Amino acid sequence: MKKFTSVKDIGDLKKAVNEALEVKANRFGYKHLGSNRTLLMVFFNSSLRTRLSTQKAAMNLGMNVIVLDVNQGAWKLETERGVIMDGDKAEHMLEAIPVMGSYCDVIGVRSFARFENKNADYNEEILNQFINYSQRPVFSMEAATGHPLQSFADLITIEEYKETTKPKVVLTWAPHPRALPQAVPNSFAEWMNATDYEFIITHPEGYELDSKFTNGATIEYDQNKALEGADFVYAKNWAAYTDPNYGKILSTDRSWTINSDKMKLTNNGRFMHCLPVRRNMIVTDDVIESDRSIVIPEAANREISAQVVLKRMLESL
Ligand code: CP
Repeated sequence: MKKFTSVKDIGDLKKAVNEALEVKANRFGYKHLGSNRTLLMVFFNSSLRTRLSTQKAAMNLGMNVIVLDVNQGAWKLETERGVIMDGDKAEHMLEAIPVMGSYCDVIGVRSFARFENKNADYNEEILNQFINYSQRPVFSMEAATGHPLQSFADLITIEEYKETTKPKVVLTWAPHPRALPQAVPNSFAEWMNATDYEFIITHPEGYELDSKFTNGATIEYDQNKALEGADFVYAKNWAAYTDPNYGKILSTDRSWTINSDKMKLTNNGRFMHCLPVRRNMIVTDDVIESDRSIVIPEAANREISAQVVLKRMLESL
């Protein structure tokens, strides 16, 4: 595997999940693959789970790990070509990226949507520069439009907890005080659409996602109706995608918060969220603390999704 940015890069999903379960049962069984190999993790944005789980996955595989927090101690990077660099940015990505590539074998990149330019975000201009100029396999650790390591972990978790062959999975928008990118819901939709699950997305009008990711899913504007009989409830906030409101908050309506009355509409459903989560905005304390909440095993599976991706990249070197 030379690139991991989308469900398309993982190939057959059943095979990938089986590989994940095998890796989970024998996570130190591939330590030879990473011997004398180095992972560079480049963060343009904060992280808890991605940072720790990916580093742990690399260590399970015997890799060395270097972490670069671009905004803490590195030179400020210019991303646009053709700019006269007379401002505060001391180095251009076009030099920095191949230099970074020269110190490692595999690169992970976290670079969120900036909500300044929709085309730049949706063309994944930062991530693609790493893919084009590093001369190394590159994987997304959440980029502007997708978070495939999260979605792969979500899929593994649903496969572990599902009680029917084709569960009903509901992705629901929930309120949040800040404008959040669409990366997690985009990827979740893309990955769920690639399964044979029943998949429904519910959100207030105006929060439609890019159809490139949601195509194939049912959209239901009535959250209560969408939640009826759900086996899995995946809550997430996102800012508006559609013009002219790209990156804007259109609602903080707390009637969309997932509470115990909403969970009663489900088929004794499991609650999921990628974390970090704002309690009593996205989900109430009692729901996230209930025995139907699987947010902790979901986060734990981030180590497994990262290990499968790194394993495949190491096998392709
Ligand atoms: N879910 C997730 O990616 O968490 P972090 O932002 O903490 O890495």
